[in-house]
Amino acid sequence: MEYKLRKAEPRDVSDILRLVKELAKYEEMENQVTLTEKDLLEDGFGDTPFYHCIIAEIQGESSSDDLKVVGFAMYYFTYDPWVGKQLYLEDFYVTEEYRGLGIGSDILRHLSDLAMKTRCNGMMFVVAENNESSIQFYKRRGAEDLSQEEGWRLYRFGKDSLVKMASPSEE
Ligand code: ACO
Repeated sequence: MEYKLRKAEPRDVSDILRLVKELAKYEEMENQVTLTEKDLLEDGFGDTPFYHCIIAEIQGESSSDDLKVVGFAMYYFTYDPWVGKQLYLEDFYVTEEYRGLGIGSDILRHLSDLAMKTRCNGMMFVVAENNESSIQFYKRRGAEDLSQEEGWRLYRFGKDSLVKMASPSEE
């Protein structure tokens, strides 16, 4: 099976949203996805993109078949004041039919190359604690469980809390 990895382009936003939703469904949280293709277009391809995506694309059975996007990773760069640049892996997904063929490992290789090139000190990500198969996938590649080892907990200010804290003029 032939596939290639490439950087996402504006024309990929519908496939990106499809895969974001598939991953959210896999995580049993599909109804929390409110993002639209328009958001993805505005946020990922302007002068200051808020995210980047790498796409895995396969050629169908015959050369006249359309290319099909079967996996992706959404990532961005963050900064850790103790050690510096970090790559943050936000979403990572390969459609069920194409899992176990090495596409996911290839995407991680690509991101690791990028992390080395940009002098990042690590790649951070969050995994649902019931996603045991992915936890094992990451652990086999050396990932450390920071919640367990260092006791960090993930928090968020939701929009309502932000509105309460923000200046009235920013509402
Ligand atoms: N499905 C999954 N894994 C399989 C399968 C299969 N049908 N068959 C074999 N495997 C094994 C492989 O042998 C391999 O083992 P290894 O770790 O010893 O190498 C591993 O599982 C899969 O390796 P790859 O083929 O390189 O990766 P894949 O293309 O399957 O992608 C991924 C990995 C992205 C985790 C994929 O399994 C997936 O989409 N899972 C469901 C969604 C998910 O949990 N995503 C991560 C959420 S966390 C986050 O987004 C930050």
